[in-house]
Amino acid sequence: MKVLDWGAGRGRLLQAAVDKWQNSTAEFIDYYAYDPDPKDREVCIGQIAITWPAEAENRWFGEFSSVRQFAAGSPFDRILLCNVLHEIPPAEWNARISDMHAVLSPSGYLLIMEDLKLPQGELAYPKGFLILDHGAVRLLFDDQNDILVTVQNNRLASYVIPYSRLHITPESRRRTLEHCRNVELDKIKEIRAGTDRTYVRGVDHLRAAMQFITAYLSLTD
Ligand SMILES: C[S@@+](CC[C@H](N)C(=O)[O-])C[C@H]1O[C@@H](n2cnc3c(N)ncnc32)[C@H](O)[C@@H]1O
Repeated sequence: MKVLDWGAGRGRLLQAAVDKWQNSTAEFIDYYAYDPDPKDREVCIGQIAITWPAEAENRWFGEFSSVRQFAAGSPFDRILLCNVLHEIPPAEWNARISDMHAVLSPSGYLLIMEDLKLPQGELAYPKGFLILDHGAVRLLFDDQNDILVTVQNNRLASYVIPYSRLHITPESRRRTLEHCRNVELDKIKEIRAGTDRTYVRGVDHLRAAMQFITAYLSLTD
């Protein structure tokens, strides 16, 4: 299975696969990495070299044009987006999802994984960050009951999205942002009305405020 790790960073996903499959990794996945930020390039290539020593450099892409060229004629079966979606500004959702559509096989899937409780504060793009819950993902991709959603411990979310759903319209983007804005506002009101004054609740309050502001500002872009 030909897999593209989109926003691969240090290649943590591949590391997990190698931990599990050891010397047999190449029998299960045909791994490629893409990350426009070169800061973790060497580490990721080192990770790839454990399984594919002779071709590790050719399995790492820093530019989407190279991914597109590589995938022409032989697209990817899976695109993995692990802790990356919240770093893509809403103004770019349409363009980036179109890019993914261009290099994914028509029988392929986009797998999105997100930590819904991003443990550290982030300023992933100038207007903050936005972590999408399952309601938001369903609106963004106009779910027709063909998106698989799994959430573990109210925290680790994964969304499996078929190729046919990889189209975002201005309308689906607006509905998604309105959903996020409304959900976060309700959360802020609920937390303020409650009596729980623990640190954890305080962090939830701050996260909800940040998410609300990002959604609000993105709606006025
Ligand atoms: C939080 S790190 C996650 C890295 C890796 N996926 C992991 O789970 O360990 C986010 C990564 O997404 C990359 N990224 C941010 N915006 C991106 C974009 N538009 N396209 C591809 N990668 C992007 C960043 O360079 C960074 O390496």
